Amino acid sequence: MTGTTSLSALMEGDHHDLDEVLVRFRSTPGAQIASRRELFTRFASGLRRHISLEERRLFPRMEEGGPESHRLVEMLLEDHRRIEGALVAIQATLDQGATSTEGPEVELLNLLGEHNAREEGFAYPWLDEHLPAADLLEVRHDLEEPLPPSDAATSR
Ligand SMILES: [Fe+2]
Ligand SMILES: [Fe+2]
Repeated sequence: MTGTTSLSALMEGDHHDLDEVLVRFRSTPGAQIASRRELFTRFASGLRRHISLEERRLFPRMEEGGPESHRLVEMLLEDHRRIEGALVAIQATLDQGATSTEGPEVELLNLLGEHNAREEGFAYPWLDEHLPAADLLEVRHDLEEPLPPSDAATSR
């Protein structure tokens, strides 16, 4: 049914889905601590799956693609490390029972904005041209897997 979906479309769709969860998290009042924790858990596990998929299935292909795409991968990996740092900071703030995580949230938004633009502008278009069809199928399969239930009670 979606046999011709490009890598760009799949991954941009996942960015978009993740953004929606992040917007819901950010628009939930700080006093609703349980809801915010649950939304953040859902967002963070989805983003970590996305990042893991990129690092396992996509970036190794790009590293084989020559010095330019190799340099881009180094930059994207550094972004991922910083994004992970922001996720950990938000989680730590939530764990302290804080009703605001605005500082690390803004940091995360800035990081994600730049990072996703780099991927959507350069990495995914490169992969649209170079990723073997079998790998594209694997990516699609990974993204269709339901996320494992989070430690917090997950409701939809
Ligand atoms: Fe990424
Ligand atoms: Fe991405």
